[in-house]
Amino acid sequence: MELEATFPKITTHVLQEMKLKQEKIAMLTAYDFSMARILDQAGIDIILVGDSASNVMSGHKTTLPITLNDMIYHASSVMRAVKRALVVVDLPFGTYQGDSREALHSAIRIMKEAGANAVKLEGGEEIHESVERILTAGIPVMGHLGLTPQSIHKFGTYVVRATEEDEAKKLVEDAQLLEKAGCFAIILEKIPAKLGGEVARKIKIPVIGIGAGNEVDGQVLVLHDMLGITQEFSPRFLRRYHNLSEEIKGSVKAYISDVKSVDFPNEREQY
Ligand code: KIV
Repeated sequence: MELEATFPKITTHVLQEMKLKQEKIAMLTAYDFSMARILDQAGIDIILVGDSASNVMSGHKTTLPITLNDMIYHASSVMRAVKRALVVVDLPFGTYQGDSREALHSAIRIMKEAGANAVKLEGGEEIHESVERILTAGIPVMGHLGLTPQSIHKFGTYVVRATEEDEAKKLVEDAQLLEKAGCFAIILEKIPAKLGGEVARKIKIPVIGIGAGNEVDGQVLVLHDMLGITQEFSPRFLRRYHNLSEEIKGSVKAYISDVKSVDFPNEREQY
């Protein structure tokens, strides 16, 4: 039997219950219909249409170039596939930081045009006003603290964040602020495991980690990284479950050879 027939749709309330029951939350990224359908049928709890699409789908070095229209395109494709998972969509760089009205407008476009379930924003106190305004429209918001790739030019590097006391203190305060504002969950990226656990115990909403240790309430990875499609990215936090780039190359080489040798198509493969 298909998973969606036996399990209810994942909502922000279900995620809250999972935290209370200490049931870990599994989250992955997806950017297209076919992959999203596989993830959903496998039983993933949350699908993130991440702005990492800028890297893994479009080949940009950072997440900065991706546009709101690009995100709506990816999110719409994912929404057509998903029956059970909660789908969260990143607000891209430049669509929410400076102006909370623009933030609300961007979030509404994602909810209306893609049919998403929630949006994700990077940052704490600096984007507090945008988070609050989006929440007043009834749009669920996920926060994102620690390493925030949209601010890469401010930090200049992708090293582990919040290793110093000041930054760790600000991260805890930001997490509490986002919880108080009404966010339903927070992502913590690339921070010390001890700090990840501390935040997860201090706040009541689910804390999902990527390189934040195993004391948080769930984990997220970029799909193309964990499947081994991306080749040059291997941070310590990444577990590769496959070497898909090699498998795909092998299949493509076999196909090329079959075409060149006129082995494909054979008699059963033609009309
Ligand atoms: O865009 C993305 O894929 C993300 C994850 C790294 C959490 O934000």
